[in-house]
Amino acid sequence: MIPLDPNRLPAHLAIIMDGNGRWAQERMLKRIIGHQRGAETVKMIVEQASLLGIKYLTLFAFSSENWSRPQLEVRALMTLLKKYIQRETAHMMRKNIRYNVIGNRSDLPDDINETLEDAMRKTAANTGMVLTLALSYGARQELTRAAARLAAEAVAGRLSPEDITTELFESYLDTGGLPDPDFLIRTSGEMRISNFLLWQLAYTELYFTDTNWPDFTINELNKALADYQSRERRFGKTSDQLTQRGDLSND
Ligand code: IPE
Ligand code: IPE
Ligand code: MG
Repeated sequence: MIPLDPNRLPAHLAIIMDGNGRWAQERMLKRIIGHQRGAETVKMIVEQASLLGIKYLTLFAFSSENWSRPQLEVRALMTLLKKYIQRETAHMMRKNIRYNVIGNRSDLPDDINETLEDAMRKTAANTGMVLTLALSYGARQELTRAAARLAAEAVAGRLSPEDITTELFESYLDTGGLPDPDFLIRTSGEMRISNFLLWQLAYTELYFTDTNWPDFTINELNKALADYQSRERRFGKTSDQLTQRGDLSND
């Protein structure tokens, strides 16, 4: 395995876990079997990220747009999610991991919300990795909700337009309180963002792999993180400025 510099890991890793359906279909299996295998990958990657000392891991588990999939698949995904949370919460306690959820919770079935609430309450005092599940999540919807809440504050006279700074706006997003992702991995070969964290990914390093999520391994995670460590994040500055040579030379 490629050695990683423990001091240069992303503080916040986000993953678009894609390709469960294709993994199954390539094997003449039902899509739901792909999702089941995908849940095993989630378990392994959560454990590895926490072991590496990554502080925030955010997983895109179900998008706002995924509601338009066949009802049978949606229902199976919800059942799988519930089972995963119920089964893993004790493990999260042992690993000191705290659960967090982003997305439009009001669209989720009551029993799922109760399971999530329970898991968040139980793990609330954990001080290790924050595991954020993006469920019924869409970035455009999140941004629209934030704008609507700001408008309501303004109409109520508690806020004036000049108060709306980047920082204030950010605090109205579902991710308020979380740092922006440093690194985004998308599996399955698709090179798109699919309505994930549109605001928060502004300066995130992106990584795409052809591997379908059920086949994603610790080795692949390691490879992706090594790639991240080879990048220079400039945030609009020049390379010289970052190495602090900028003030010595003008070229
Ligand atoms: C990702 O795998 C899981 C979810 C979106 C819920 P997909 O189900 O999108 O798998 P593909 O992209 O159809 O192969
Ligand atoms: C993105 O995957 C959403 C999740 C991984 C939960 P999709 O499979 O829904 O994305 P598209 O439809 O290929 O863009
Ligand atoms: Mg997909």
